[in-house]
Amino acid sequence: MSAQIDALVAQLLGEISAAGSTAELADVERRALGKKGELTLLLRGMKDVPAHERPEFGRRVNEAKAQVSEAIERCRATLEAAEASRAAEHDRLDVTLPGRGRRPGRPHPMARVLDEMCEIFIGMGFTIVEGPEIETRWYNFSALNIPDDHPVMDEKNTFFLPDGLLLRTETSAIQARVMEAQPPPVRILGPGRCYRRDAVDATHTHTFHQVEALVVDEGISFADLKGTVLQFFRQMYGPRVRLRIRPDFFPFVEPGGDVSFSCHLCDGPGCPTCKYTGWIELGGCGMVHPNVLRNVGYDAEKYTGFAFGFGLERMAMLKYGIDDIRLFYENDIRFLEQFG
Ligand code: DAH
Repeated sequence: MSAQIDALVAQLLGEISAAGSTAELADVERRALGKKGELTLLLRGMKDVPAHERPEFGRRVNEAKAQVSEAIERCRATLEAAEASRAAEHDRLDVTLPGRGRRPGRPHPMARVLDEMCEIFIGMGFTIVEGPEIETRWYNFSALNIPDDHPVMDEKNTFFLPDGLLLRTETSAIQARVMEAQPPPVRILGPGRCYRRDAVDATHTHTFHQVEALVVDEGISFADLKGTVLQFFRQMYGPRVRLRIRPDFFPFVEPGGDVSFSCHLCDGPGCPTCKYTGWIELGGCGMVHPNVLRNVGYDAEKYTGFAFGFGLERMAMLKYGIDDIRLFYENDIRFLEQFG
């Protein structure tokens, strides 16, 4: 019996010294001294030991238990110290490491230009309004006095959807929506995404953005249009820029024109940005056609208005000297990070 106890102690002591971690050691402890541990069971088996051998047997088992517990405690102290120093090493602050820089997001260049534009127009008393990108023929064409045989109606130019719907081709589509929803006076700025069947190149994309302005009230004249646009250009591109409006045709305005400002980079003699003309064209404008006012139930004898629509991509390209429109949509971090 004594030899059996000795062998068990020797085996347990071997396992204790082989334990590589406190967790492994706890496992040995459980198997030796736990409720169903080998030494515990040995003590419970005392009833089977002949009565005269019991005192000696009990003493031997208790001695073995004490020996094993002591070995476990010693080993635990060593393992705990080793584990603590490993953890400390892991957590140690290495002040020579390069810092982890934060990389906060930043507004897209187009969002920045739009924000700036909205600020300028809000300052002039305008309200910002948005319309749907999926439009009806009525709002995108008919209400705007665009006849059914106009080229924009062609499948080659417009993305038509089922049920007479389409992807709006211009933000002018919000004009009639705004006027139908309220009586004059109207003074709104309508930014938004537009779609056309254009092949993609450095200056064209099938999906682009425009900003529409519409003002309707009694006594609104062409002078109001010129003053408003010039004020905007000067705040956006510099106090010295001049305004140029040349006659052009858009079905929803009469008279209509195209809008340019004097090149903010060369101020006249010509440079690559203004294609050596001294002028930069930004979009169309005009006095709201009486038919458009009548289409929404406004009294065209009493009210007049002006409207204009500018390309947002083009405004941002000019503001930041960007020469390829595709850069706006590629989301290349090296491009985006330049606008902080
Ligand atoms: N919607 C026109 C376009 O996409 C631009 C435009 C021209 C808007 C004249 C207007 C305007 O409001 O009066 O080409």
